[in-house]
Order: sequence, then structure tokens, then C-alpha cells
Amino acid sequence: MTDRYCVLGHPVGHSKSPAIHTAFADQTGDDIEYVAIEAPRDDVGGAWRCFVSEGGRGANVTVPFKEQAVALCDTLSQRARRAGAVNTLIVGGNGLTYGDTTDGVGLVRDLRRHGVALAGASVLVLGAGGAVRGVLEPLLSERPASLRVANRTAGKAEALAADFRDLGEIAGGGFETVDGPFDLVINGTSASLAGDLPPLPDDLFTPGATAYDMMYGTDPTVFLRWAAEQGARTVDGLGMLVEQAAESFFQWRGRRPDTAPVLAMLRQAL
Ligand code: ATR
Repeated sequence: MTDRYCVLGHPVGHSKSPAIHTAFADQTGDDIEYVAIEAPRDDVGGAWRCFVSEGGRGANVTVPFKEQAVALCDTLSQRARRAGAVNTLIVGGNGLTYGDTTDGVGLVRDLRRHGVALAGASVLVLGAGGAVRGVLEPLLSERPASLRVANRTAGKAEALAADFRDLGEIAGGGFETVDGPFDLVINGTSASLAGDLPPLPDDLFTPGATAYDMMYGTDPTVFLRWAAEQGARTVDGLGMLVEQAAESFFQWRGRRPDTAPVLAMLRQAL
């Protein structure tokens, strides 16, 4: 029997998740159907319950529902609890809903795929919103030498760092407090969407450093263009998108798809 999955978002028409999971299933031979559902902004719970009542087995959750979806879960993974957000819902054999977040694992896997060493590295993360909160635990679990969080609103970065201090060497502050250089700089702000560049010093990168933007698009983001001018190696977030999806697929199906051909397909279609 065909197992049904969906992505819940608003809007959701732009989502690449149906194409990604359909490609994964073609590869593994899993018999699944994956659709995009635009949930009402104030009732993602209703949309989820309706999907489950019609036999739905799991979902991805995207903007703006990742935080709200925590309330839909009977149990949460530890990383989802830490993140305060869920991007993967799983209906267990007992009918209960289990929530997980795979964004951080997706980021770490994509960095690994690009040969970026996190252990012992000095890492700067820009931004202190939901996207950044979701990746801090997996980043810290790779044991960087230090992790600095910098944000336009300094207090949010300080509070976020304090929340994760038990997991490793982490500090937070405003952009003006950034004192590099760093081996890896990850842009987790939504500044790229507005074409803005956070105010950053010129000596931000060590030789051979990597600049990673969690956003992606047809053209490199403003941050990646600036980083390339500074001599950094640049990577956009399309690989993170595919890797987080692969981890969701694994949670649902117990099989790990090969991400490389799916990433190549998406890259070509951008
Ligand atoms: P997300 O879920 O994508 O993280 P969010 O929680 O709204 O969305 O967080 C957006 C992040 O991008 C924040 O860190 C925000 O900075 P503030 O906390 O100061 O608002 C950051 N951001 C958004 N636009 C920005 C800009 N033009 N320049 C710098 N930072 C920006």
C-alpha cells in the first residue's frame, strides 16, 4: 500500500520537498506519495490531524510552522526539544506523533560532504532566530574549538548562547563584537532575502576558510559574493536542504537515500 507524507507550510507552493522525497523513493523503491499542503496560518494542527485521519504517516514542517508544530507532538527528540522546533513529524505504530528536527544534522552532513572540519575549528554563526537555534546542538556536538553567535539584536545572540552553554564553548553578541578570524562562518540570518549584508570586518576569514549561507538561490547570496571577494570558499544551503530531507526520509522509512544525484537534479533546476 502507498504510504502518504506531506510538507505543511504557508505558502508551500515553492517547496522542493515533494520533488526531493519523490526522487528518494524512486531510488530506494519505497512506495510513497508526497504532497504539499498549505495549512491555514492559525491551524496547522487541524491540517495535520486531517492528514493523519486520512492515513498520513508523516510530514515535513516548514515556514511558518516549525515552532507551532512542537505542540502537535506526543514526544520530541532531544534535539527538537533543544531547538524548540520540529521539521519532521512521524506517526508511530501506536498512533502517537513523534517530532524531530533534522535541519542541524543536514547542515553538519553537508559541511562534511564539502570536507569542512568542525572539530577544533573556530566557527562564527550569524543570526539568532529559529534557523540558528535549530542547528546549534548538532554543530556543538562536533566539538568546534569555539562557536560565536553574532546577531543584529545582540541580546538575542547572548540569550541563545546562554541556552547552549552546557554543550560547549559558545558565546554571543552583536556584530560589532565579532573578532575573527574564523575557519567557518555560517550565515543563518534572513538578511540575504532582502539583499542585505550584515556589517562584518574584512579580516573575518582564516586562510582556507569556508563561508556557508543557509539560503540558496539561482545566484550566490550577497554574503557569499562578499565572502568570495575576501578569499573564502563559498557553499550555499541547497545541500543542507537535501541532507535534512534525507534524514527525515530515514526517520520515516529506515533507509538512507543517496543525496548526490538529487542535489545535482535540484542544482540544475535552480
Ligand atoms: P528564521 O526562522 O529564518 O531564523 P527569524 O527567527 O525571524 O527567522 O530570524 C531572522 C534572523 O535574521 C534574525 O537573527 C534577524 O536578526 P534580528 O534578531 O536582529 O531581527 C536576522 N536578520 C533579518 N534581517 C536582517 C538584516 N537585514 N540584517 C541583519 N540581520 C537580519
